[in-house]
This record gives sequence, structure tokens and C-alpha cells, in this order.
Amino acid sequence: MLLHLQNVTKGYGQPGTHSYRPVLNDLNLEVRKGEKIAIVGPSGTGKTTLLNLVGTLDQPEQGKIFFDGKDITGYSKTELAAFRNQHLGFIFQSHHLMPQLTLKENVLLPLLPQGKQNSKNETEWADYLIQKVGIWEQRNQKPSQLSGGECQRTAVVRALINKPQLLLADEPTGALDEGNADALTELLLKLSEEEGVTLITVTHAVTLAGSMDRKLTLKNGKLV
Ligand SMILES: Nc1ncnc2c1ncn2[C@@H]1O[C@H](COP(=O)(O)OP(=O)(O)OP(=O)(O)O)[C@@H](O)[C@H]1O
Ligand SMILES: [Mg+2]
Repeated sequence: MLLHLQNVTKGYGQPGTHSYRPVLNDLNLEVRKGEKIAIVGPSGTGKTTLLNLVGTLDQPEQGKIFFDGKDITGYSKTELAAFRNQHLGFIFQSHHLMPQLTLKENVLLPLLPQGKQNSKNETEWADYLIQKVGIWEQRNQKPSQLSGGECQRTAVVRALINKPQLLLADEPTGALDEGNADALTELLLKLSEEEGVTLITVTHAVTLAGSMDRKLTLKNGKLV
């Protein structure tokens, strides 16, 4: 088991007051290594909240999250930053690329904390991925000189650069037209498969959800 969420509860506002809004309620989830999971559900049901908890960008009020058997809910801020950098990859709806950096520099950015951005192995890996997703010609261009689909493909490479065990994607195709969305979906699945990456993606896209191992719906704070 790669990931285990055990009785996770999360809301916003002060618990026990009128301001409190429950979002996730006693939620459980078990994800095996290499599994590809789609999370669907109407807007506002807590899909991003759930990904933020798994991505350790936020913490549950109650419950525990285990990664590879280790309880990560007790980790300190420093431990969490290292954990994220080492084990997780993120793709968001908008690409969040640095505008002043080129495509290639953006892709290498996550290697900076380890001082690995200039190592031969890592740059070869970056070049391999950049070619694989079809943006080699554009590698020295800045995000403003790239199309939406190219930016999103850059974000995919950036998310994979540290060889994460778990890739978290929040509506990765949400900002793309249908053709580009399908192409990115295919790419995401193929790369996850090839690299043995476990994938959890939030999506409204039927095609994306349909090509996953499991499709889970977030409803009333639980996954069904
Ligand atoms: N930081 C926050 N403070 C207060 N309320 C929040 C916060 N973030 C989210 N919420 C609320 O929690 C609920 C779940 O939000 P969340 O973003 O997880 O939904 P979602 O399923 O990702 O929706 P969408 O499909 O629109 O992206 C919403 O009602 C939202 O208003
Ligand atoms: Mg969301």
C-alpha cells in the first residue's frame, strides 16, 4: 500500500462554531503502488481539499495519513518539505510556471534544493522527458511564448523530474481544449505507466476518468 487515509476529517473555519464548514468527513482511502485513480464530484465537494491533504499542503483535523506505511501527519514543516520534494509530484489546473524562466529552466527547478540541476543524469532525464512530451523545439522559450498545452506539458515534466512515487493532479486538463486535453491525458497515463508512478487525478473529463483503474466520487465528505 502506497497511501492510506484513515478516518480523515477536514473542514474550514473554527470547529464547533457557526463559521465551521465540514468538507471531508471520516474519509478513508487506500491506494496501491502504481494504481491510477480518478476523483470526481461536483464543484465544492472537497476534491482540491483532499488533494491538498494528500500533498501535505494542508493537515487534517482528525485522522491519519500513511505514506509507504509511515504516518506523515506528525511530520514537522521541514520534514514535510523534504517529503514533498522527494516523493510527490504536483500538476495543477493552471501550470504555475515561472514567467522569467525558460521551459527547460522551469523543468529543472525542483532539483534546485538538492543541488542536482546541473548533474548529467538529471539533465539527461529532463531532456528525455522534454522530448517525450513533444516540446523539445520550445525548450528555450519562456511560458509567454508557449501555448496552453505546451505549458501544461512542461508542468507534467516538472512534476516528474524528481521521479516521484505519487503524482497528484488537480484538473490538469481543465484549462485546455478537448484535443489538447485528450493528448495530455494520454501522455499522463503513458508516462505514469512507464515510470510506475501512482497517479491520483481530480477531473471533470469523462475520457480521463474512464481510462483510470478506479473512479471515486466525493460525496458528503466521503469517497464512494
Ligand atoms: N481556504 C478555505 N477557506 C474556507 N473555505 C474553503 C477554503 N478552501 C475551500 N473552501 C471551501 O471548502 C469547500 C470545498 O472546496 P474545494 O476547493 O476542496 O472543492 P472542489 O471539489 O475542489 O471544487 P472545484 O471542483 O470547484 O474545484 C468549498 O465549499 C469551499 O468554498
Ligand atoms: Mg478544486
